[in-house]
Amino acid sequence: MTKISELLRQNHIDIPFIKGDGIGPEISAATEDILNAAIKKVYGDTRSLSFIDVLAGEAAFKSVGEWLPKETVELIREKGVALKGPLTTPVGKGARSINVRLRKELDLYACIRPVKHFPNVPFPVKRDVLNIVIFRENTEDVYRGIEYKAGSEEAMKLARFLKNEFGADLPSENTTAIGIKPMSIEGSKRIARAAIRHAVQLKRKKVSLIHKGNIMKFTEGMFRDVGYDVAEEEFSDSVYTMRQYQNTVSTQGTEAANKKFEAAQWAGKVIVDDVIADAGLMHMTMNPERFDVLVLSNLNGDYYSDSSAGVVGGLGVAPGANVNFETNHGLFEATHGTAPDIAGKDMANPTSLLLSACMLLDHLKWTEAAEAIRTAINGCFEAKILTADLAPKDIKPASCSAFSQAVLARL
Ligand code: NAI
Repeated sequence: MTKISELLRQNHIDIPFIKGDGIGPEISAATEDILNAAIKKVYGDTRSLSFIDVLAGEAAFKSVGEWLPKETVELIREKGVALKGPLTTPVGKGARSINVRLRKELDLYACIRPVKHFPNVPFPVKRDVLNIVIFRENTEDVYRGIEYKAGSEEAMKLARFLKNEFGADLPSENTTAIGIKPMSIEGSKRIARAAIRHAVQLKRKKVSLIHKGNIMKFTEGMFRDVGYDVAEEEFSDSVYTMRQYQNTVSTQGTEAANKKFEAAQWAGKVIVDDVIADAGLMHMTMNPERFDVLVLSNLNGDYYSDSSAGVVGGLGVAPGANVNFETNHGLFEATHGTAPDIAGKDMANPTSLLLSACMLLDHLKWTEAAEAIRTAINGCFEAKILTADLAPKDIKPASCSAFSQAVLARL
């Protein structure tokens, strides 16, 4: 396994690259060209990335009969970081999601997704004020993959066990599908820790623990509670929590609590609060400025990623990173899927994968090259060069290859 400290010393780095299915090959080709050009421009010949084509998804299944070959996981584990295009996941049948397996196999517990507005990219809300970073727990919750088909031996046995041993009230023994939602204290703590550390280091104003703890008290409720524990126990100098505020209200009254809150704000402390997930989604569209850094369990995080991407103009501009902050392994991938409706038509927007690749460069501390690419992308948007997913009716959309040429020209 390549440690991040070793990676940071290297000037020529191997990056395993899963090109992906559907639009994957098109946006991957654009990303590879632009990364190489930006690195050459910024660092000359002193630094370079070598992309190693690795198999996963449909391409792997067709060529070696496996959806996720062991060699792919081992190479990513060895190299430490990787880039990834979207992969097909059949619904309700077939192979389990390779994305979920990769995140689990490499224990990439933090999914980080920055979402913000871009110039001239049309958006459906009234004001362009959304600028958030999502920290989604990536390895637990109902996405863990522990679920049993209705009528199966396992589901019926589990139903009987739950009913007989715990008196659980199930709809029926024989026709109920059962999914399990495991959430650990450690898993919930480490994602909260990663998000709060990010907020403190980048001087963001707020961290919101998003949960559905009013209904799922022992899973989602615990997620909120341990988030507050981490904030108060590990970041007491840099954060002030709304749980502390509430405690002060009950012991010393509202005026004293308000004073403490104001003092914390004056001191530049990060405010940690919590929001019930359904109300939070409403705020995302109505009062986007209410949010800054968000911490979410796995399923909620998935919903929030896509819905916030919708607020700023769609999945085409939504990047992501899956990171383990202890091992520093990272898999950098776009939020969107394989877009089968436009695959092979040179219509895909490569921005999401490109911005994910910029997060990879940031991870390697090659921030100058990342900034060069981000500035070039912004330059394209400012010049109203927009792919079909973003272009309003009065603008002729740029193809995937024309957009990448325009980014290259601006580097
Ligand atoms: P999708 O994200 O592929 O497509 C949703 C809509 O957004 C489509 O209309 C598509 O044309 C558009 N779109 C997505 N990315 C775009 C881009 N870069 N440029 C322009 N338009 C874009 O979601 P869908 O259709 O639900 O899933 C298709 C397949 O992708 C499924 O097999 C799903 O499991 C897989 N998937 C894979 C992901 C991954 O590998 N990380 C994530 C999400 C879905």
